[in-house]
Amino acid sequence: MLSDAAIDWVIDGYTHGRVADEQMSALLMAIFLNGMTVAETTRWTTAMVASGERFDFTDLRRDGRSLALVDKHSTGGVGDKITIPLLPVVMACGAAVPQASGRGLGHTGGTLDKLESIPGFTAELSKDRIRQQLSEVGGAIFAAGELAPADRKIYALRDITATVDSTPLIASSVMSKKLAEGAQSLVLDVKVGRGAFLKTEDDARELARIMVDLGNSDGVPTRALLTDMNCPLGRTVGNSVEVTESLEVLAGGGPSDVVALTLALATEMLDAAGIDGADPAETLRDGSAMDCFRALVAAQGGDLSRPLPIGAVSETVTAPHGGVMGDLDAMGVALAAWRLGAGRAQPGEPVQFGAGVRIHRKPGEPVAAGEALFTLYTETAERLPGALAELDGAWTVGDTEPTQRPLIIDRIG
Ligand code: URA
Repeated sequence: MLSDAAIDWVIDGYTHGRVADEQMSALLMAIFLNGMTVAETTRWTTAMVASGERFDFTDLRRDGRSLALVDKHSTGGVGDKITIPLLPVVMACGAAVPQASGRGLGHTGGTLDKLESIPGFTAELSKDRIRQQLSEVGGAIFAAGELAPADRKIYALRDITATVDSTPLIASSVMSKKLAEGAQSLVLDVKVGRGAFLKTEDDARELARIMVDLGNSDGVPTRALLTDMNCPLGRTVGNSVEVTESLEVLAGGGPSDVVALTLALATEMLDAAGIDGADPAETLRDGSAMDCFRALVAAQGGDLSRPLPIGAVSETVTAPHGGVMGDLDAMGVALAAWRLGAGRAQPGEPVQFGAGVRIHRKPGEPVAAGEALFTLYTETAERLPGALAELDGAWTVGDTEPTQRPLIIDRIG
Protein backbone atom coordinates (compact mmCIF):
# COMPACT_ATOMS: atom_id res chain seq x y z
CA MET A 1 0.00 0.00 0.00
CA LEU A 2 1.35 3.40 -0.99
CA SER A 3 0.95 6.00 1.76
CA ASP A 4 -0.40 9.47 0.96
CA ALA A 5 3.01 10.91 1.76
CA ALA A 6 4.78 8.48 -0.59
CA ILE A 7 2.40 9.32 -3.45
CA ASP A 8 2.77 13.08 -2.89
CA TRP A 9 6.54 12.71 -2.76
CA VAL A 10 6.91 10.63 -5.91
CA ILE A 11 4.53 12.76 -8.03
CA ASP A 12 6.18 15.99 -6.91
CA GLY A 13 9.67 14.52 -7.28
CA TYR A 14 9.00 13.19 -10.78
CA THR A 15 7.40 16.45 -11.92
CA HIS A 16 10.49 18.38 -10.80
CA GLY A 17 13.12 15.93 -12.04
CA ARG A 18 14.19 14.56 -8.63
CA VAL A 19 12.80 11.09 -9.37
CA ALA A 20 14.44 9.45 -12.40
CA ASP A 21 12.54 7.93 -15.33
CA GLU A 22 13.87 4.46 -14.41
CA GLN A 23 12.45 4.71 -10.87
CA MET A 24 9.10 6.02 -12.06
CA SER A 25 8.94 3.33 -14.75
CA ALA A 26 9.39 0.64 -12.12
CA LEU A 27 6.59 2.12 -10.00
CA LEU A 28 4.28 2.45 -13.02
CA MET A 29 4.92 -1.19 -13.93
CA ALA A 30 4.11 -2.25 -10.35
CA ILE A 31 0.85 -0.27 -10.54
CA PHE A 32 0.11 -1.70 -13.99
CA LEU A 33 0.52 -5.25 -12.64
CA ASN A 34 -1.07 -4.86 -9.18
CA GLY A 35 -3.57 -2.04 -9.64
CA MET A 36 -4.21 0.62 -6.99
CA THR A 37 -6.76 0.82 -4.20
CA VAL A 38 -9.46 3.48 -4.34
CA ALA A 39 -7.56 5.47 -1.69
CA GLU A 40 -4.31 5.26 -3.66
CA THR A 41 -6.00 6.25 -6.95
CA THR A 42 -7.71 9.19 -5.25
CA ARG A 43 -4.46 10.46 -3.73
CA TRP A 44 -2.55 9.89 -7.00
CA THR A 45 -5.15 12.05 -8.79
CA THR A 46 -5.05 14.78 -6.14
CA ALA A 47 -1.25 14.88 -6.30
CA MET A 48 -1.32 15.19 -10.10
CA VAL A 49 -3.86 18.04 -9.91
CA ALA A 50 -1.62 19.76 -7.32
CA SER A 51 1.42 19.46 -9.63
CA GLY A 52 0.12 22.49 -11.57
CA GLU A 53 -2.39 25.26 -11.47
CA ARG A 54 -6.05 24.59 -10.76
CA PHE A 55 -8.26 27.06 -12.61
CA ASP A 56 -11.03 28.79 -10.70
CA PHE A 57 -13.59 30.73 -12.72
CA THR A 58 -16.24 31.03 -10.00
CA ASP A 59 -15.70 34.81 -9.74
CA LEU A 60 -16.68 35.35 -13.39
CA ARG A 61 -20.03 36.91 -14.33
CA ARG A 62 -21.99 36.92 -17.56
CA ASP A 63 -25.00 39.20 -17.97
CA GLY A 64 -24.67 39.94 -14.26
CA ARG A 65 -24.94 36.29 -13.19
CA SER A 66 -22.30 33.81 -12.04
CA LEU A 67 -21.45 31.10 -14.57
CA ALA A 68 -22.77 27.53 -14.47
CA LEU A 69 -19.46 25.86 -15.38
CA VAL A 70 -19.82 22.33 -16.73
CA ASP A 71 -17.77 20.14 -19.05
CA LYS A 72 -17.81 16.71 -20.66
CA HIS A 73 -15.01 14.31 -21.48
CA SER A 74 -15.02 11.35 -23.84
CA THR A 75 -12.64 8.45 -23.38
CA GLY A 76 -12.11 8.49 -27.14
CA GLY A 77 -13.93 7.02 -30.07
CA VAL A 78 -14.00 6.84 -33.85
CA GLY A 79 -15.81 9.67 -35.60
CA ASP A 80 -16.34 11.10 -32.11
CA LYS A 81 -16.87 14.74 -33.03
CA ILE A 82 -19.54 15.20 -30.34
CA THR A 83 -17.72 18.00 -28.48
CA ILE A 84 -18.02 20.23 -31.57
CA PRO A 85 -21.84 20.40 -31.68
CA LEU A 86 -22.31 19.70 -27.94
CA LEU A 87 -20.47 22.69 -26.50
CA PRO A 88 -22.43 25.28 -28.52
CA VAL A 89 -25.71 23.53 -27.65
CA VAL A 90 -25.10 23.79 -23.90
CA MET A 91 -23.68 27.31 -24.28
CA ALA A 92 -26.88 28.32 -26.10
CA CYS A 93 -28.85 26.86 -23.17
CA GLY A 94 -27.00 29.08 -20.69
CA ALA A 95 -24.10 26.93 -19.41
CA ALA A 96 -20.44 27.92 -19.62
CA VAL A 97 -17.88 25.34 -20.73
CA PRO A 98 -14.16 25.45 -19.95
CA GLN A 99 -12.83 22.48 -21.93
CA ALA A 100 -9.23 21.29 -21.71
CA SER A 101 -8.95 19.03 -24.73
CA GLY A 102 -6.38 16.82 -26.38
CA ARG A 103 -4.80 15.93 -29.69
CA GLY A 104 -5.17 12.47 -31.16
CA LEU A 105 -2.66 9.70 -30.61
CA GLY A 106 -2.95 6.29 -32.26
CA HIS A 107 -6.32 5.35 -33.72
CA THR A 108 -8.57 7.80 -31.83
CA GLY A 109 -8.88 11.34 -33.13
CA GLY A 110 -8.41 14.46 -31.02
CA THR A 111 -10.87 17.34 -30.84
CA LEU A 112 -8.04 19.86 -31.15
CA ASP A 113 -6.80 18.31 -34.43
CA LYS A 114 -10.33 18.54 -35.80
CA LEU A 115 -10.87 22.16 -34.75
CA GLU A 116 -7.41 23.20 -35.92
CA SER A 117 -8.51 22.25 -39.45
CA ILE A 118 -10.53 25.50 -39.35
CA PRO A 119 -8.21 28.15 -40.84
CA GLY A 120 -6.75 30.33 -38.08
CA PHE A 121 -8.19 28.38 -35.12
CA THR A 122 -5.89 28.19 -32.10
CA ALA A 123 -6.22 26.09 -28.95
CA GLU A 124 -3.18 27.63 -27.24
CA LEU A 125 -5.05 29.98 -24.93
CA SER A 126 -3.64 31.80 -21.90
CA LYS A 127 -5.63 31.67 -18.67
CA ASP A 128 -6.62 35.33 -19.15
CA ARG A 129 -7.93 34.59 -22.61
CA ILE A 130 -9.91 31.60 -21.32
CA ARG A 131 -11.43 33.81 -18.60
CA GLN A 132 -12.32 36.48 -21.12
CA GLN A 133 -13.91 33.98 -23.50
CA LEU A 134 -15.93 32.31 -20.75
CA SER A 135 -17.46 35.61 -19.70
CA GLU A 136 -17.91 36.96 -23.23
CA VAL A 137 -18.99 33.91 -25.28
CA GLY A 138 -19.54 31.20 -22.64
CA GLY A 139 -17.01 28.63 -23.79
CA ALA A 140 -13.36 27.88 -24.52
CA ILE A 141 -11.62 24.80 -25.91
CA PHE A 142 -7.94 24.78 -25.07
CA ALA A 143 -4.85 22.56 -24.93
CA ALA A 144 -4.26 21.26 -21.39
CA GLY A 145 -0.90 23.10 -21.35
CA GLU A 146 0.24 23.54 -17.77
CA LEU A 147 -2.77 21.79 -16.19
CA ALA A 148 -1.59 18.69 -14.29
CA PRO A 149 2.00 18.76 -15.64
CA ALA A 150 2.73 15.54 -13.71
CA ASP A 151 0.27 13.75 -15.96
CA ARG A 152 1.98 15.01 -19.12
CA LYS A 153 5.34 13.57 -17.97
CA ILE A 154 3.86 10.37 -16.60
CA TYR A 155 1.70 9.80 -19.70
CA ALA A 156 4.76 10.11 -21.96
CA LEU A 157 6.58 7.56 -19.78
CA ARG A 158 3.55 5.22 -19.77
CA ASP A 159 3.50 5.44 -23.55
CA ILE A 160 7.04 4.06 -23.88
CA THR A 161 6.82 1.53 -21.03
CA ALA A 162 3.55 -0.13 -22.18
CA THR A 163 1.76 0.93 -19.00
CA VAL A 164 -1.01 3.04 -20.54
CA ASP A 165 -3.58 0.28 -20.29
CA SER A 166 -4.15 0.43 -16.53
CA THR A 167 -7.58 1.44 -15.22
CA PRO A 168 -6.37 3.45 -12.17
CA LEU A 169 -3.70 5.18 -14.26
CA ILE A 170 -6.19 6.05 -17.03
CA ALA A 171 -8.79 7.26 -14.51
CA SER A 172 -6.32 9.45 -12.62
CA SER A 173 -4.80 10.79 -15.84
CA VAL A 174 -8.15 11.86 -17.31
CA MET A 175 -9.56 13.20 -14.05
CA SER A 176 -6.45 15.17 -13.03
CA LYS A 177 -6.83 17.37 -16.13
CA LYS A 178 -10.60 17.60 -15.84
CA LEU A 179 -10.51 18.55 -12.15
CA ALA A 180 -7.86 21.20 -12.84
CA GLU A 181 -9.71 22.92 -15.71
CA GLY A 182 -12.23 24.74 -13.54
CA ALA A 183 -15.55 23.01 -14.33
CA GLN A 184 -17.97 22.77 -11.40
CA SER A 185 -19.54 19.55 -12.68
CA LEU A 186 -18.58 16.91 -15.23
CA VAL A 187 -20.25 14.48 -17.60
CA LEU A 188 -18.14 11.59 -18.89
CA ASP A 189 -18.80 9.69 -22.11
CA VAL A 190 -17.16 6.32 -21.51
CA LYS A 191 -16.91 4.41 -24.77
CA VAL A 192 -17.08 0.65 -25.03
CA GLY A 193 -16.52 -1.62 -28.02
CA ARG A 194 -14.19 -2.39 -30.91
CA GLY A 195 -13.28 1.25 -31.60
CA ALA A 196 -12.86 2.20 -27.92
CA PHE A 197 -9.97 2.02 -25.51
CA LEU A 198 -11.98 -0.49 -23.48
CA LYS A 199 -13.47 -3.40 -25.39
CA THR A 200 -15.72 -4.92 -22.72
CA GLU A 201 -18.66 -3.46 -20.87
CA ASP A 202 -17.29 -4.67 -17.52
CA ASP A 203 -13.99 -2.80 -18.03
CA ALA A 204 -15.74 0.36 -19.24
CA ARG A 205 -18.16 0.24 -16.32
CA GLU A 206 -15.27 -0.09 -13.85
CA LEU A 207 -13.42 2.88 -15.40
CA ALA A 208 -16.61 4.96 -15.36
CA ARG A 209 -17.29 4.11 -11.70
CA ILE A 210 -13.73 5.04 -10.64
CA MET A 211 -13.80 8.35 -12.54
CA VAL A 212 -17.25 9.27 -11.21
CA ASP A 213 -16.05 8.55 -7.66
CA LEU A 214 -12.84 10.57 -8.20
CA GLY A 215 -14.86 13.59 -9.35
CA ASN A 216 -17.44 13.34 -6.58
CA SER A 217 -14.85 12.87 -3.85
CA ASP A 218 -13.03 15.97 -5.10
CA GLY A 219 -16.22 18.04 -4.83
CA VAL A 220 -16.95 18.12 -8.58
CA PRO A 221 -20.26 16.29 -9.12
CA THR A 222 -19.59 13.77 -11.89
CA ARG A 223 -21.73 11.32 -13.84
CA ALA A 224 -21.07 9.09 -16.84
CA LEU A 225 -22.86 7.65 -19.84
CA LEU A 226 -21.61 4.30 -21.12
CA THR A 227 -21.95 4.47 -24.91
CA ASP A 228 -21.43 2.07 -27.80
CA MET A 229 -18.27 2.43 -29.91
CA ASN A 230 -18.39 -0.63 -32.14
CA CYS A 231 -19.38 1.39 -35.21
CA PRO A 232 -18.06 4.90 -36.07
CA LEU A 233 -20.24 7.81 -34.96
CA GLY A 234 -21.83 9.61 -37.89
CA ARG A 235 -20.61 9.36 -41.47
CA THR A 236 -17.15 10.89 -41.25
CA VAL A 237 -13.86 9.95 -39.59
CA GLY A 238 -10.92 12.36 -39.80
CA ASN A 239 -10.38 16.06 -39.11
CA SER A 240 -12.01 18.63 -41.43
CA VAL A 241 -14.60 16.05 -42.58
CA GLU A 242 -15.78 15.78 -38.96
CA VAL A 243 -16.02 19.57 -38.62
CA THR A 244 -18.14 19.67 -41.80
CA GLU A 245 -20.45 17.04 -40.34
CA SER A 246 -20.66 18.92 -37.03
CA LEU A 247 -21.68 22.06 -38.93
CA GLU A 248 -24.49 20.03 -40.54
CA VAL A 249 -25.69 19.04 -37.04
CA LEU A 250 -25.51 22.65 -35.88
CA ALA A 251 -27.55 23.63 -38.95
CA GLY A 252 -30.34 21.28 -37.81
CA GLY A 253 -29.40 18.22 -39.91
CA GLY A 254 -26.61 15.67 -39.66
CA PRO A 255 -26.56 11.96 -38.82
CA SER A 256 -29.14 10.77 -36.30
CA ASP A 257 -26.62 9.05 -33.99
CA VAL A 258 -24.50 12.21 -33.69
CA VAL A 259 -27.61 14.28 -32.97
CA ALA A 260 -28.93 11.74 -30.44
CA LEU A 261 -25.67 11.52 -28.48
CA THR A 262 -25.20 15.30 -28.58
CA LEU A 263 -28.66 15.83 -27.11
CA ALA A 264 -28.29 13.06 -24.50
CA LEU A 265 -25.00 14.51 -23.25
CA ALA A 266 -26.40 18.06 -23.39
CA THR A 267 -29.35 16.98 -21.22
CA GLU A 268 -26.94 15.49 -18.67
CA MET A 269 -24.70 18.57 -18.70
CA LEU A 270 -27.61 20.98 -18.23
CA ASP A 271 -29.00 18.88 -15.40
CA ALA A 272 -25.55 18.72 -13.77
CA ALA A 273 -25.25 22.51 -14.14
CA GLY A 274 -28.66 23.05 -12.55
CA ILE A 275 -30.15 24.63 -15.68
CA ASP A 276 -33.89 23.84 -15.97
CA GLY A 277 -36.32 24.49 -18.76
CA ALA A 278 -33.86 24.76 -21.68
CA ASP A 279 -34.51 22.67 -24.80
CA PRO A 280 -31.20 21.54 -26.35
CA ALA A 281 -32.93 20.29 -29.54
CA GLU A 282 -34.46 23.73 -30.12
CA THR A 283 -30.97 25.32 -30.18
CA LEU A 284 -30.18 23.19 -33.26
CA ARG A 285 -33.47 24.15 -34.93
CA ASP A 286 -33.38 27.88 -34.18
CA GLY A 287 -29.71 28.44 -35.01
CA SER A 288 -28.69 29.62 -31.52
CA ALA A 289 -26.19 26.74 -31.13
CA MET A 290 -24.67 27.62 -34.53
CA ASP A 291 -24.35 31.26 -33.38
CA CYS A 292 -22.52 30.09 -30.23
CA PHE A 293 -20.17 27.91 -32.31
CA ARG A 294 -19.39 30.81 -34.65
CA ALA A 295 -18.70 33.07 -31.66
CA LEU A 296 -16.40 30.47 -30.04
CA VAL A 297 -14.47 29.82 -33.26
CA ALA A 298 -14.09 33.55 -33.98
CA ALA A 299 -12.88 34.19 -30.41
CA GLN A 300 -10.18 31.55 -31.00
CA GLY A 301 -9.06 33.08 -34.30
CA GLY A 302 -10.89 30.67 -36.63
CA ASP A 303 -12.40 31.80 -39.92
CA LEU A 304 -15.41 29.74 -40.95
CA SER A 305 -15.89 31.78 -44.13
CA ARG A 306 -12.78 30.14 -45.59
CA PRO A 307 -13.13 26.62 -47.04
CA LEU A 308 -12.08 23.70 -44.86
CA PRO A 309 -9.19 21.69 -46.31
CA ILE A 310 -9.94 18.36 -47.99
CA GLY A 311 -7.36 15.86 -49.23
CA ALA A 312 -6.48 16.43 -52.89
CA VAL A 313 -6.22 12.67 -53.52
CA SER A 314 -9.34 10.56 -53.12
CA GLU A 315 -10.47 7.00 -53.78
CA THR A 316 -13.98 5.56 -53.62
CA VAL A 317 -14.82 2.02 -52.49
CA THR A 318 -17.95 0.66 -54.19
CA ALA A 319 -20.33 -2.21 -53.41
CA PRO A 320 -19.43 -5.45 -55.21
CA HIS A 321 -23.12 -6.45 -55.20
CA GLY A 322 -26.44 -5.23 -53.87
CA GLY A 323 -27.89 -5.98 -50.43
CA VAL A 324 -27.84 -4.44 -46.98
CA MET A 325 -24.81 -2.79 -45.38
CA GLY A 326 -23.65 -5.10 -42.60
CA ASP A 327 -21.70 -4.39 -39.45
CA LEU A 328 -18.99 -1.72 -39.75
CA ASP A 329 -15.89 -2.17 -37.60
CA ALA A 330 -14.95 1.17 -36.03
CA MET A 331 -11.33 0.05 -35.56
CA GLY A 332 -10.87 -0.76 -39.27
CA VAL A 333 -12.26 2.65 -40.28
CA ALA A 334 -10.13 4.40 -37.64
CA LEU A 335 -6.95 2.71 -38.84
CA ALA A 336 -7.79 3.62 -42.44
CA ALA A 337 -8.21 7.30 -41.47
CA TRP A 338 -4.98 7.13 -39.48
CA ARG A 339 -3.07 5.68 -42.43
CA LEU A 340 -4.49 8.41 -44.67
CA GLY A 341 -2.75 10.93 -42.39
CA ALA A 342 -5.60 12.03 -40.10
CA GLY A 343 -3.79 10.80 -36.97
CA ARG A 344 -0.27 10.59 -35.61
CA ALA A 345 1.99 7.74 -34.49
CA GLN A 346 4.16 9.88 -32.17
CA PRO A 347 3.20 12.87 -29.99
CA GLY A 348 4.01 16.14 -31.76
CA GLU A 349 3.79 14.80 -35.31
CA PRO A 350 1.76 16.94 -37.74
CA VAL A 351 -1.57 15.59 -39.00
CA GLN A 352 -3.21 16.13 -42.39
CA PHE A 353 -6.31 18.23 -41.73
CA GLY A 354 -7.96 17.13 -44.98
CA ALA A 355 -7.38 13.38 -44.51
CA GLY A 356 -10.24 11.08 -43.59
CA VAL A 357 -13.01 8.71 -44.56
CA ARG A 358 -16.56 9.54 -45.62
CA ILE A 359 -18.99 6.67 -44.97
CA HIS A 360 -21.82 6.63 -47.53
CA ARG A 361 -23.71 3.62 -46.17
CA LYS A 362 -24.16 2.82 -42.48
CA PRO A 363 -25.16 -0.61 -41.08
CA GLY A 364 -28.70 -1.59 -42.05
CA GLU A 365 -28.94 0.76 -45.05
CA PRO A 366 -29.78 -0.69 -48.50
CA VAL A 367 -26.95 -0.86 -51.02
CA ALA A 368 -27.10 -1.20 -54.82
CA ALA A 369 -24.31 -2.95 -56.77
CA GLY A 370 -21.59 -0.46 -57.75
CA GLU A 371 -22.78 2.21 -55.31
CA ALA A 372 -20.22 4.23 -53.35
CA LEU A 373 -19.71 2.90 -49.81
CA PHE A 374 -16.67 4.93 -48.67
CA THR A 375 -14.58 7.82 -49.99
CA LEU A 376 -11.03 8.12 -48.69
CA TYR A 377 -9.17 11.47 -48.72
CA THR A 378 -5.47 12.21 -48.29
CA GLU A 379 -2.74 14.57 -49.51
CA THR A 380 -0.41 11.63 -50.07
CA ALA A 381 -1.28 9.09 -52.77
CA GLU A 382 1.20 6.54 -51.32
CA ARG A 383 -0.97 6.36 -48.21
CA LEU A 384 -3.99 4.98 -50.08
CA PRO A 385 -3.01 1.27 -50.40
CA GLY A 386 -2.36 0.92 -46.64
CA ALA A 387 -5.63 2.69 -45.83
CA LEU A 388 -7.60 0.52 -48.26
CA ALA A 389 -6.04 -2.58 -46.68
CA GLU A 390 -7.19 -1.47 -43.20
CA LEU A 391 -10.71 -0.88 -44.48
CA ASP A 392 -10.81 -4.24 -46.22
CA GLY A 393 -12.58 -6.67 -43.91
CA ALA A 394 -14.08 -3.89 -41.77
CA TRP A 395 -17.41 -4.03 -43.62
CA THR A 396 -19.77 -6.43 -45.41
CA VAL A 397 -22.76 -6.19 -47.71
CA GLY A 398 -25.17 -9.06 -47.09
CA ASP A 399 -28.76 -10.21 -47.32
CA THR A 400 -29.85 -9.52 -43.77
CA GLU A 401 -29.81 -6.49 -41.51
CA PRO A 402 -27.10 -6.54 -38.84
CA THR A 403 -28.15 -6.45 -35.19
CA GLN A 404 -28.50 -2.82 -34.11
CA ARG A 405 -26.96 -2.02 -30.73
CA PRO A 406 -28.29 0.68 -28.40
CA LEU A 407 -26.13 3.82 -28.57
CA ILE A 408 -26.49 4.58 -24.86
CA ILE A 409 -25.85 1.51 -22.77
CA ASP A 410 -26.11 2.86 -19.24
CA ARG A 411 -25.85 5.89 -17.01
CA ILE A 412 -23.57 5.83 -13.96
CA GLY A 413 -23.62 8.29 -11.07
N1 URA B 1 -6.52 9.78 -21.97
C1 URA B 1 -5.79 10.37 -21.00
O1 URA B 1 -5.80 11.58 -20.84
N2 URA B 1 -5.04 9.55 -20.21
C2 URA B 1 -5.01 8.22 -20.33
O2 URA B 1 -4.33 7.57 -19.58
C3 URA B 1 -5.76 7.64 -21.36
C4 URA B 1 -6.52 8.44 -22.17
